[in-house]
Amino acid sequence: MSDSISDGIVKQNPTWLITGGAGFIGANFVKHILAHRTDVNVVVLDRLTYAGNLQSLVDELAQPCFEFVKGDINDADLVAKLFAQYDFTTVVNFAAESHVDRSILGPDEFIQTNVQGTLNMLQQSLKAWQDDFSGRLFLQISTDEVYGTLGLDDGPFTERHAFAPNSPYAASKASADHLVRAWHHTYGLPTVTTHCSNNYGPFQFPEKLIPLIIRNIIARKPLPIYGDGQQRRDWLHVSDHCAAIEFVIANGKLGESYCVGGNNECTNLTIVEQICQLMDKKLPSSDGVATDLIAYVKDRPGHDRRYAIDATKLKSLGWTPKQRFDSAIEQTVDWYLANQSWVEAITSGEYQQFYQRQYQHRLGEE
Ligand code: NAD
Ligand code: TYD
Repeated sequence: MSDSISDGIVKQNPTWLITGGAGFIGANFVKHILAHRTDVNVVVLDRLTYAGNLQSLVDELAQPCFEFVKGDINDADLVAKLFAQYDFTTVVNFAAESHVDRSILGPDEFIQTNVQGTLNMLQQSLKAWQDDFSGRLFLQISTDEVYGTLGLDDGPFTERHAFAPNSPYAASKASADHLVRAWHHTYGLPTVTTHCSNNYGPFQFPEKLIPLIIRNIIARKPLPIYGDGQQRRDWLHVSDHCAAIEFVIANGKLGESYCVGGNNECTNLTIVEQICQLMDKKLPSSDGVATDLIAYVKDRPGHDRRYAIDATKLKSLGWTPKQRFDSAIEQTVDWYLANQSWVEAITSGEYQQFYQRQYQHRLGEE
């Protein structure tokens, strides 16, 4: 770990800056790139909040074309110094506060990182690149949540859908997306924005639905279903998302945005029941079946009812999701069962306190 160019960084190869690369999608993306690209260097800038885990990158840390820098995307001096050192060709901005429930309990951090932090990354990219934008790209990783909620009979979100964010998280991401758009139109910064649906797969922090349910079944704890569990999401395997991001870096048109979806829309209750069935098969318990643990709890305030994605624009360029949900969710369950030490290592300390604040009153636990 260092903040200077290591011997392994090959200077004639382009260097990509991946912010938030120790989080769920960022770490999967770093793995995806380093597994098959020998023509790029990767530098990760990550503050290592509760959601960032360097253990996810333990193999990559040993690779010569990889550098990790612990720091904040709001730190103008640090980011400027990194641009000067590495002459980044591509910035992929994953760094964010990403959990809707946390944004409801404390929105300030979301504005600080998701809005202010993105502003700083845009400004530093502009400063570093303004004399010559050729070969440069600022890729903003956004979410389908900026589009708000759909009715059951509505068509899915496309890039033409108007922003209508409903949670502090979604509002902060939408704000950042507007900044990205403006920096392209006003200053000519070469930007692209992606809007993906709910990701699942390895290395996801277990405050999000799928890893939380797996973890609670292992511990025979209640499985909290917000409201009636009939909210609908599109589920995108993180490997398909990583492939889409690499594809957009190569083929995306500057100034455009792209929706990324997994072709798998279903209700939260269906997802939970499917995980329960898998867990009953893999980890049978004498205490009964996993669905016995389902607990309907007070709904999330302002809970969006339905998200769905029409990814035609990106598909027409040549990307398509490859994972089928039935097999990919089973592989995901297997990964969490095989990597319980990873889960336990990141679920100590601060996360425990958050977990208490979030669920104590809903589940009546003391
Ligand atoms: P995550 O919460 O798992 O990881 C976020 C990472 O950002 C962590 O490593 C954290 O340490 C780092 N970080 C936070 N604040 C920082 C700061 N100020 N400076 C530097 N690093 C900081 O998030 P994720 O699920 O991997 O999401 C990545 C991106 O994708 C986010 O921008 C999120 O909005 C977007 N997204 C995620 C999903 C999903 O299903 N997970 C869906 C749509 C969009
Ligand atoms: P989540 O994983 O938090 O992602 P997002 O809010 O970004 O979609 O939640 C996915 C869905 O699952 C969402 O509708 C909220 C619901 N949910 C529960 O019902 N119980 C839970 O304990 C959690 C974390 C989420």
